[in-house]
Amino acid sequence: MHRSPDSRTTTSPRGDVWWKTAVFYQVYVRSFADADGDGVGDLAGIRARLPYLHLLGVDALWLTPFYPSPMVDHGYDVADPRDVDPLFGTLADFDALVADAHALGIKVTVDLVPNHTSDRHVDFAGAVAGPGPERARYVFRDGRGDGGAEPPNNWRSIFGGPAWTRVPDGSWYLHLFTAEQPDLDWTNPEVAADLERTIRFWLDRGTDGFRIDVAHGMAKAAGLPDMDVPAGVDAVPNQRDGQDPRFDAEEVHDVHRMIRRVLDSYPERMAVGEVWVDGDERLARYVRPDELNLAFNFRLLQADWDAAAFREAIDASLTAMLAVGAPTTWVLSNHDVVRHATRYAVDADEATGRRRARAAAMVQLALPGVAYLYYGDELALPNVDLPDEVLQDPVWERSGRTERGRDGERVPMPWSGEKPPYDFSSSARTWLPMPDDWAHLTVEAQLEDPDSTLSLYRRALELRREHPAFGRDGLEWFSAPAGCLAFRRPAGLLCALNASSEPVPMPPGDLLLASGPLPPDGTLPADTAVWLA
Ligand code: NOJ
Repeated sequence: MHRSPDSRTTTSPRGDVWWKTAVFYQVYVRSFADADGDGVGDLAGIRARLPYLHLLGVDALWLTPFYPSPMVDHGYDVADPRDVDPLFGTLADFDALVADAHALGIKVTVDLVPNHTSDRHVDFAGAVAGPGPERARYVFRDGRGDGGAEPPNNWRSIFGGPAWTRVPDGSWYLHLFTAEQPDLDWTNPEVAADLERTIRFWLDRGTDGFRIDVAHGMAKAAGLPDMDVPAGVDAVPNQRDGQDPRFDAEEVHDVHRMIRRVLDSYPERMAVGEVWVDGDERLARYVRPDELNLAFNFRLLQADWDAAAFREAIDASLTAMLAVGAPTTWVLSNHDVVRHATRYAVDADEATGRRRARAAAMVQLALPGVAYLYYGDELALPNVDLPDEVLQDPVWERSGRTERGRDGERVPMPWSGEKPPYDFSSSARTWLPMPDDWAHLTVEAQLEDPDSTLSLYRRALELRREHPAFGRDGLEWFSAPAGCLAFRRPAGLLCALNASSEPVPMPPGDLLLASGPLPPDGTLPADTAVWLA
């Protein structure tokens, strides 16, 4: 059973506004479905696959950037935030996608990239040319040392290398990512005004909300002071304990208050922040009542395959979010991290990784709040080990080829058939090559198999939507053997996970769903989760 096409609801079965309990599906646009046969996914491809997403049972989509871009960082370098890149289609394709998704009861959210633009943005051309209003939109400074030949400070780019590049007149501009992604100066009110125009542009087209890229990045420490860079370190990871002058300055919250004000002038629109900060309390500051509706919670994604680590992540996240009255989000994978089926296979084989991925999904989907799925999670796709010559992520070159980058988790979606491109595209030349041994992972192969990961996700999403045991918020821990966890939701759902290597007794209750086969002796096997009511 799944929703009828006309069941577009704005409230969940519990009466909450839709985004408080939604299951979002992240569509990495390049890799989901290619309608025009150029080997790169596009908006028309997504539209053609909406019936699949409806069958899967997700509530909302998050589309990664599809705006005009030189694609240095695959669209996170935006040249025009209020249009569609011809590679991905047209504004009319976007409107048609939103209309069809809405007709199926699926919301559509899009990416906003407020921290930086592409160096091909029209304003940046003016900024490079010399001082003036365009330069004032970016972070330009004089250099240090003789003739200003040294960068203004010692900041490093997240992708490796210096965070400053010099322009012909001798001035330097800041870029926390690649040199083709100049940072905007958020102390300039023009920058906020332009973001507001962009937000309204997409909301007026019926978009239901936004995912905010680098939502902790827009405000830098006043005076841009040097950072503590350990000797010999090049790429410095994201901030630690609020000590990193590149991120998370107090003024960033003014930006989110502005975004929230605009969102709230439309009914039931939302924004989720990509916030990489250390500490749950710092994260919670981004979802105070007048700021973003949601923030990605990467705690589960960062936890090893370990029940105690999961439990700690869950407890800390719930406590921090409860303090500010925001729903918690749960994320296992996205386009920036190794897929969880592969992470959980470290020290184990691929089949174990997949078994654990299925069990983790059942924990994720049993937790109160919002779940974000990454395309292919529902097929238990692994990361792909790609050869050097096909790598495209700028991280590969900027790190001096020491970091392989994120292409391995961005390989196109296998839909059907026996060999690449598995109906992702009519072209055999897909933007990243697809493995030869994915025939058993395709949607087609999994759809009619009751034991497939796809069938597990479909059933889990159906239960989450319709079973009264999911009814209310909150969670209580239930006693569990070592290496296991068990929690109960107030309306009765019990979720138990055995992350140990031995079978354990099954908790009491009627079985609703199991992530893998259960033996007749009534035990809960290793690397398996169950839902009981
Ligand atoms: C976070 C995005 O998820 C990532 O893919 C991108 O490279 C950076 N932000 C820069 O925009």
